[in-house]
Amino acid sequence: MDTTKICLPQNEIPQAWYNIQPDLPAPLMPPLNPATGEPLGPEALAPIFPMSLIEQEMTMEPWVEIPDDVMRIYKLWRPAPLHRAVALEEELGTPARIYWKNESVSPAGSHKPNTAVAQAYYNKVAGVTRIATETGAGQWGSALSFACCLMGIECMVYMVKVSYQQKPYRRLLMQTWNAECIPSPSDRTAAGRAILEKDPDSPGSLGMAISEAVEDAATRDDTKYSLGSVLNHVLLHQTITGLEIRKQLAMVDDEPNVIVGCVGGGSNFAGFAFPFVKDKLDGKDIRFVACEPKACPTLTRAPYRYDFGDTAEMTPLLKMHTLGHTFVPAPIHAGGLRYHGMAPLVSLLADQKIVEPVAFFQNEVFEAAMLWCRTEGHLPAPETAHAIKGAIDEALKCKQTGEEKCIVIGYSGHGHFDLGAYDGYLSGSLPDYEPDQQSIDDAVSTLPDVADPF
Ligand SMILES: Cc1ncc(COP(=O)(O)O)c(C=O)c1O
Repeated sequence: MDTTKICLPQNEIPQAWYNIQPDLPAPLMPPLNPATGEPLGPEALAPIFPMSLIEQEMTMEPWVEIPDDVMRIYKLWRPAPLHRAVALEEELGTPARIYWKNESVSPAGSHKPNTAVAQAYYNKVAGVTRIATETGAGQWGSALSFACCLMGIECMVYMVKVSYQQKPYRRLLMQTWNAECIPSPSDRTAAGRAILEKDPDSPGSLGMAISEAVEDAATRDDTKYSLGSVLNHVLLHQTITGLEIRKQLAMVDDEPNVIVGCVGGGSNFAGFAFPFVKDKLDGKDIRFVACEPKACPTLTRAPYRYDFGDTAEMTPLLKMHTLGHTFVPAPIHAGGLRYHGMAPLVSLLADQKIVEPVAFFQNEVFEAAMLWCRTEGHLPAPETAHAIKGAIDEALKCKQTGEEKCIVIGYSGHGHFDLGAYDGYLSGSLPDYEPDQQSIDDAVSTLPDVADPF
């Protein structure tokens, strides 16, 4: 009988994170100062991040050692199991082997604690006593609340209003871990008040919530800011997932041909995929499929340009695929995928055609999630269900061609707090959204006009 759950012993947890920067096939454009258009030095980020994380953002070292105090907390749930989806394979009648890396086993229920614990640790070491952040679906907010709670740091979470209303239990989870969580846009910050003045019923967006959290951190001496995705150091911390996958597949004498993940800001996808990118550059038969919602088509329909990371134009400019920082995605249930931009590292690899983007409507995503639940049993987060849909499509292609490919799904989180979304699907009331070209053109027309520095 096939092995269906591949468990790495704890003493085999990778001891260092993998930094893709030295292996990139093209130079990564640096963050720019919006006022001057010049590359930012590390000191410019010091008001909102501890210097150790700024160094990780820019390092060209190929490996960054995982500190003991981070490893101790990782061991509450790591290594995460790699499963083989035999029941799904049989149901689809595909010759493909489908594996899934289960990041839903973390205390917060997703991959997000991999970086939350690391970020809380480096802040703690730097003497920071309070961290502010934003959250979309609530997964990142819960992960940082958990990490801050264990590190003894205060945590303030600005949660996108539409998700705050859809997912009250996520807020309670954050409160259980001692955090304060309020809906964004809020009247706590100048950025929030300005948005509410224009549109008192604003559903919020990640771009808006980032503005609020950055402002909170920049205006208080005791507080730093923490981002759950997009930035290089966040993606770095997530590579522990792909490094574990490599060891787990070796245990069953297999290697990936297709890695499929969902992309919001790009962090879980990067974590699963980046440790294998060099294999592809060295000629191995491996593809990286990035699945996004058609409602927020950052990789599939947006240009690769410099833009702000937030709505209120408080962040540095990042070179990335972006729908424009004023773009407000429709309120789909995959709240963690409603971000106008994309990690610069993932954007670069998409631009180089190493990452292949695909986009789906939410009803087809939930249809895939139902098939998954009814074969594999586990209930995926709506974000994760995008990866499942992408993997099922790949497995069905194998059925047509007869190819026995090894497909790995990045299973980024469970959907136990997302049953309202499943209710919407089961009762047939989920709308499918796709922005018209004009709304994308309008938001893209607000992009700052800056040139690449080299
Ligand atoms: C379960 C889950 N998967 C994926 C994402 C998308 O984020 P990222 O692209 O940074 O992994 C989120 C974000 O909240 C999430 O909660």
